[in-house]
Amino acid sequence: MKNKRIGFATRMGAVAATVGSAVGLGNIWRFPYQAGENGGGAYILVYLICVLLLGVPIMMSEFVIGRSTHKSMKGAVEQLTPGSPFKYFAYIGVLGALLICGYYSVVCGWVIEYLWSSVSGNLLGHTTEQYSQIFNTFVGNPDRCVLWTLLFLLLNFLVLSRGVEKGIERIANVMMPFLFLLLIVFCVNSLLLPDSDEGMEFLFDIDFDDLGWKGVVDAMGQSFMSLSLGVTCLITFSSYFKDDSNLMKDAVTISSLDTLVAILAGIMIFPAVFSFELEPNAGPKLIFEILPTIFQQLPGGTIWAVLFFVLLFFASITSTISLSEISIAFLIDEYKISRMKAIAITATLMTIVAVLSALSFSTLSDIQLLGRNIFDFLDFVGPNIFMLLGGLVTAVYVGWVLKKDVIHNQLTNGGKHKASFVQAYVVFCLRYIAPVAIVIIFLYYIGVI
Ligand code: TRP
Repeated sequence: MKNKRIGFATRMGAVAATVGSAVGLGNIWRFPYQAGENGGGAYILVYLICVLLLGVPIMMSEFVIGRSTHKSMKGAVEQLTPGSPFKYFAYIGVLGALLICGYYSVVCGWVIEYLWSSVSGNLLGHTTEQYSQIFNTFVGNPDRCVLWTLLFLLLNFLVLSRGVEKGIERIANVMMPFLFLLLIVFCVNSLLLPDSDEGMEFLFDIDFDDLGWKGVVDAMGQSFMSLSLGVTCLITFSSYFKDDSNLMKDAVTISSLDTLVAILAGIMIFPAVFSFELEPNAGPKLIFEILPTIFQQLPGGTIWAVLFFVLLFFASITSTISLSEISIAFLIDEYKISRMKAIAITATLMTIVAVLSALSFSTLSDIQLLGRNIFDFLDFVGPNIFMLLGGLVTAVYVGWVLKKDVIHNQLTNGGKHKASFVQAYVVFCLRYIAPVAIVIIFLYYIGVI
């Protein structure tokens, strides 16, 4: 019974669940702040190129591995290429997912704090500078930050242990269109602000002088983060896809929707940033400074704020559920332990990472790794090292090691769809473009270029 293995997606809802996993804080929190730090337009152009040349092909390759075997990474590689060392890549995926979910939960905690202060009516009514101070005071408060992070993790693992993640995913997928509509309302609102064109120029005027290597690395890491690539998440999801689902179409649909949400988040944030004369490079706190200002512009601002943070909460929890499932499924498959035990181990490890990250703006702010606090360090190594490395391994495995007819059969569903161009494109990107691009990034890290 393959569906017994893990419980997060029925085969029916698997594609919808994949969209749920992809759309999250990555699109709404991380994409704008990264674009803001890296000068806007040129970063976005590189991001879009990464989605096209790396994201979509690697997504399809994860789908090919998962759906051809209906197994997660390790079992799939054992079945497709017995004896191949590529199966050890599963460990990188699990570790990456644990670290990412650990610091990501801290941001989910911030969402709860902002939801709480919206509900209690305290969020709005301040000046733009005050919002910046409010955020700094909040993250500098260890008790509060840790409390919300732990509450979030508790909810996340409660959902997973009660086996109700399907229900949550269904609710989240009903809410997703509302989140989308809300983003559009906020975008229109931002575009009507005085001097909003400065924000649009920032977003869409391409000036490579602002980018540099750091921007390229960030754009690449962000495209992997946003599409949930490189840590075997999509292999596990696609192991539940129906055999007649069209992998090419699904990958293109999921990537397009995900990218659209990110761009909308940018259009919501930057016109307001410039209109209120804030710095676009405020870093991780960017959306928490500017969103209250945006809500304030609208009649019934508090209601908009509550709605937005509720929807963002659901978008976030579907992402953390999928991130947690990577390690839970791995532990069950690998060590044949019960689901509850696997959840307990995953929850313990993730809580440790999360608490350390939550404290990195206060008690542990002196701990610096590669010149960053713990949170920023994980926000760097998660996407920019673990996911890129995972993406490299996946690309090499499917592009060079896996038999061509497995790819062909999966993309065409045994010859039913035409795929000659798409297949040639995907294989070319996997064989040459992805490995070269990612290796260049790693050479840059170690200072060779
Ligand atoms: N893509 C999600 C976001 O943009 C984050 C995420 C969810 C993720 N599941 C993942 C990232 C699995 C990597 C792997 O918020």
